Amino acid sequence: VKPENNCIVIFGASGDLTHRKLIPAFYHLFANGLLSEEFAILGVSRTSFSDEEFQQKMKASLMANEKVDEATLDAFCQRLHYQAINTSDVDDYAKLKQRVDEIESIYHTQGNTTFYLATPPSLYSVIPQNLAAHGLNDESHGWKRLIVEKPFGYDLATAEQLDKDLHAYFQEHQIYRIDHYLGKETVQNLLVFRFANGMFEPLWNRNFIDYVEITAAEFLGVEERGGYYDGAGAVRDMFQNHLLQVLAMVGMEPPAAINADSMRDEVMKVFQSLQPLSNDDLQNNLVLGQYTESDVRGDHLVGYREEPGVAEDSRTETYVGLKMFIDNWRWNGVPFYVRTGKRLPTRVTEVVIHFKKTPHPVFGANAPENKLIIRIQPDEGILMSFGLKQPGAGFEAKEVSMDFHYESLEETHMLTAYERLLLDSMKGDATLFARTDAVKACWKFVEPILQYKQNPEHLYGYAAGTWGPKEADELLSRDKREWRFPCKNLTNTDY
Ligand code: BG6
Repeated sequence: VKPENNCIVIFGASGDLTHRKLIPAFYHLFANGLLSEEFAILGVSRTSFSDEEFQQKMKASLMANEKVDEATLDAFCQRLHYQAINTSDVDDYAKLKQRVDEIESIYHTQGNTTFYLATPPSLYSVIPQNLAAHGLNDESHGWKRLIVEKPFGYDLATAEQLDKDLHAYFQEHQIYRIDHYLGKETVQNLLVFRFANGMFEPLWNRNFIDYVEITAAEFLGVEERGGYYDGAGAVRDMFQNHLLQVLAMVGMEPPAAINADSMRDEVMKVFQSLQPLSNDDLQNNLVLGQYTESDVRGDHLVGYREEPGVAEDSRTETYVGLKMFIDNWRWNGVPFYVRTGKRLPTRVTEVVIHFKKTPHPVFGANAPENKLIIRIQPDEGILMSFGLKQPGAGFEAKEVSMDFHYESLEETHMLTAYERLLLDSMKGDATLFARTDAVKACWKFVEPILQYKQNPEHLYGYAAGTWGPKEADELLSRDKREWRFPCKNLTNTDY
């Protein structure tokens, strides 16, 4: 089913996100025939461009970065429009309203409009207010939706304030909060894998699972985003949102149906069950790290404090590792070891489910482990490892694996996270968007870490290109476990 005819207004149209992610996503949806018959994009920002200039700019960027078909590209670009306004000036929104009305008459959008806030978060409160002043939130004529990018606040208090500001002008059903991890095919697959197969779900609990690892490693450093990142750190940038969402997909109960309410109710229950972090956890189960300079496979990588935009004496973490628990019937006592960091040896995101050993080791003490590795990226797929008999004399067990790679499903066009989420929002399906209560619950859970990291007792250095501080290994080794080392034969372009 295609979305209804509609218009997308992108605030922050001259910014990075628009040309790097949003416009390419719309182009691919268009090229694959997934958009409505009639749709238009209206770019908005302070810089003044004509429609033609904006079209040329987006066209050049698409041609440089994407695989495009020229005729399709031209047809797509004709639907791009542009309006310069001062987003903080309420009077300027009269011009915006006029353009939206014009677009409605050309493209028969019947008032259906999405406002995408690809702007700095400081504008998240003022834009909805100014839209409302001109009736652009009014759903009596076509739907009106608001898409907001993370960060949704800076901590619990600011998240609550943002929520109040948004809800003053838009209702919850109109608000779509993007967590792009939920748009990833393999994150969604966690649900299908768990709830469409009778053979895994019966084992998916404390009786059979020993522990769970969730890793989101990046080889890249902070790049050009030092200014933003230094005020955020890995806990706010990756952990509070993406990693906790993945954890919820691993941990949740089966939803009654795959729709926005049922799904998000179950996600919320996981967040409500997270064992609150105690002082002891902060001391013993949390590891914060910061990368230091190093030569990695022939390249010299600067330390975090030498990155542009980062304070010379910064105490911001670029690595976080945490041992945590979900206190509920299914998961009681099962540790979840979760880690994320920049400048680790490679880019890999995966979930590893470690099953308990057999009760009696008849084939010797070195019985193979039963593991299920869900590779979220890259090389999306699922790997299962288990023991078989070592051929030959005796009864030695040997670890072997079965490996499924998504790329072997040739017939499918994998939607990128942004393609999937933009399409869902145009269809009014909020299943894969973060609900306000979940966002707040995640902030509440990380609040003790935010307090602690203001003045961390321990911030460990780790050489760029390594798997984080050695203290993070100790999180597991003291439980007689170890992190899985996901990759072999790395190169510096593995990201
Ligand atoms: C973003 C973070 O939300 O996610 C970035 O702000 C991070 O710092 C990125 O690099 C990772 O996303 P992905 O899809 O590359 O895993």
